[in-house]
Amino acid sequence: MKDPLTSAADAITVQQLRFSYSDGDPVLDIRHWSVPSGGRVFLRGPSGCGKSTLLKILAGILVAPAERLELLGQPMSALTGRQRDRFRARHIGVVFQQFNLIPYLSVLDNIRLAAYFGNSARNLGQRAGELLARLRLREDVLSRRVTALSVGQQQRVAIARALINGPQVLLVDEPTSAMDIAARDAFIQLLMEICERDQCTLVFVSHDSALAAHFPLVMDMCTLNRAWNVRSPLTTQREAAADVY
Ligand SMILES: Nc1ncnc2c1ncn2[C@@H]1O[C@H](COP(=O)(O)OP(=O)(O)OP(=O)(O)O)[C@@H](O)[C@H]1O
Ligand SMILES: [Mg+2]
Repeated sequence: MKDPLTSAADAITVQQLRFSYSDGDPVLDIRHWSVPSGGRVFLRGPSGCGKSTLLKILAGILVAPAERLELLGQPMSALTGRQRDRFRARHIGVVFQQFNLIPYLSVLDNIRLAAYFGNSARNLGQRAGELLARLRLREDVLSRRVTALSVGQQQRVAIARALINGPQVLLVDEPTSAMDIAARDAFIQLLMEICERDQCTLVFVSHDSALAAHFPLVMDMCTLNRAWNVRSPLTTQREAAADVY
């Protein structure tokens, strides 16, 4: 039988990926990782192990030198910065750890901007309303400024914005840290339903291992990222030293 993680139907393939911020120590060193099309992966690991960095590289926001990264069959290194932005807007939905909503815009304008870049402005009001209903947000939040919303509401708006262009790949970074357990489980259930219905590939990042049970695929960053294995004993030593002094 064919191994699904090496099949041509992979939505994400990473090979020999190395990344450092400016002149610092390597943050990522990944030999090979792939996510099958339609797969739903829980990517877990301790704080600082490179989860958000990897997600930003997958989204084309950060660029690793000499990267071998394919998304939906597209080698990312073949794209210019502008082409990456367009590719992201059309095919990838990203929910950032800090949401990255534009504070002085209304909810609708935040979603409208994403739709504009994704070239999908048609029936926008109606589609945004439907998405918010699926995310159990009342339609009257559309006209409110995002700063006037609770953290949980902002989170749902960030997800609506990520979904507005019907992405084939959804990258979600640590979205449940501000939620209680019941809200968290309901949220993950909803995300699964949306991905199932839209046949979307999902990479969901968290350090909360309790969430792994919701996902068919679980990947541990400590295993995946060789740079973390090198860095972590040092980090532990430094932390121990800091405790002493
Ligand atoms: N903009 C940046 N410039 C320099 N170093 C950075 C930057 N962003 C992250 N780092 C460093 O890269 C490493 C990985 O950070 P990253 O944010 O990817 O971790 P993470 O696994 O997402 O952590 P958390 O669970 O706390 O969100 C950390 O050592 C961090 O200090
Ligand atoms: Mg992070």
